[in-house]
Amino acid sequence: MIQHKDHFHGSDLEKIEAIYGIKKDEIVSFSANVNPLGISTKLRTSLSEHLDAITTYPDRDYKDLKNCIANYAGAEAEHIIVGNGSTELISLFIQITAPKKAMILGPTYSEYEREITLNGGKTKYYPLPASKDFQMDVEDFKSHLTEDLDLLILCNPNNPTSTCIRSNTMREILDVCKESSIYVMVDETYIEFVDDISACSAVSLAKSYNNIIILRGTSKFFASPGLRLGYAITGNEDLLHQIHKYKNPWMINSLAEVAGKLMFQDDDYIQKTRTLIASERKKLYQMFLDSPKYTPFEPTANFMLIRIDDPNLDSGILFERCIKEKMMIRDCSTFPFLSDRFIRICFMSEEDNARLAKCLLEA
Ligand SMILES: Cc1ncc(COP(=O)(O)O)c(C=O)c1O
Repeated sequence: MIQHKDHFHGSDLEKIEAIYGIKKDEIVSFSANVNPLGISTKLRTSLSEHLDAITTYPDRDYKDLKNCIANYAGAEAEHIIVGNGSTELISLFIQITAPKKAMILGPTYSEYEREITLNGGKTKYYPLPASKDFQMDVEDFKSHLTEDLDLLILCNPNNPTSTCIRSNTMREILDVCKESSIYVMVDETYIEFVDDISACSAVSLAKSYNNIIILRGTSKFFASPGLRLGYAITGNEDLLHQIHKYKNPWMINSLAEVAGKLMFQDDDYIQKTRTLIASERKKLYQMFLDSPKYTPFEPTANFMLIRIDDPNLDSGILFERCIKEKMMIRDCSTFPFLSDRFIRICFMSEEDNARLAKCLLEA
C-alpha cells in the first residue's frame, strides 16, 4: 500500500484552529470541494416543518426518496440503494465483493485503496501522466485491464485531477471489463458540477451493463457533508440482493430522507450552482493559465489541480500564505503520484475566489 502522509483533510478545520489560532468559522475552505452557496433554499425553509419525522422509523424501502433520486439522476428506482454518504456505500460494496486485486487511477481519492486493503485485497495503480495533463490514454488503459483484476474503480470526475471520462469511453471500458469479469465502480461524487452531465455520467449505462455500480452523494453539490446522504445505482440483481441482505435495515435517518426529497427537487438552486461554478471555473482556469508561476490542469468539476512552476514556491509555502489570510487550500504533497509542486483549489464565491487568486498569483 502506498503510504499516505498525514495531511490536513479539507474538513480538518479544527486542526487549523488549534495550530494557527484562527477561528474555524472565519476560514474559507478551498479544500473541501463543497458548494459555496450553502444548503438548498427549499431545504432551509422547509426542513423544520418536518422535524416530527424522527418520531417514526423511516420507510425501510425509502420508496419516495428512491423515486425522487430516480427522477433526479435518470435511473430506475429499483436500481437505487441509499446510504450514509457515499463513503458507507464504497465500504459496503467492497466488503460484499471482497476484491482480491483492484485497479485505481493514480492520483485519486485515497479512500478506495484503504477500503480494499482493509478487506484483504491488493491495489494496482494506473498512473495518469502529468505530461499528458493527467488525461487517460484509453487504448493503453484498456490493455492494462487484465483477467487477474476483479475490480476497477474510477472516480469521475477524478479527485484531484478534475479530469472526466465521457460515457462513450466508459462504455468501451465496460465492454473490456465485462469480457474479463471485472466489476467497475464509478464514483460520481462531483458529476453534477460538469458542464454536460449526460455526456459524462455513467448512470444510463447501468440499464444495459450488469458489471457497473455508480456512487453519488449530496455532500459536495448540495453542500451537506453533515447530513451523510449518498446513493448507489446498479442494475445487477445479484448485487442488489447481496447489498439488501448485508446492509442495516435503516441506512439513513428520517431527516436525511426528508432533506433528500426537498433538495433533489430544488431546480432553482441546482441551476444557480451550475451557473456559478461554470463561470468561476472558466475565469480561474484562465487566470492561472496566464501566470508564468503556475500550470493549471483544465478542470471539469468544481475544483482545479495546479502545478507550481516557480522554483521559489512549493505547496507548503502557499498553504501557509493562504491560511494566514484565512483561506485553506489543499496541499497535494501527500497524494500518491503528486508532490509539493501541486495544490488543489475549489471554486467558492466570486469575491472569495478573487481574494484567493490574488494571494496565489502575487506569491
Ligand atoms: C471522490 C470522493 N468520493 C467520496 C467522498 C466522500 O463523500 P461522502 O461525504 O458522500 O461520503 C469524497 C469526499 O471528499 C470524495 O472526494
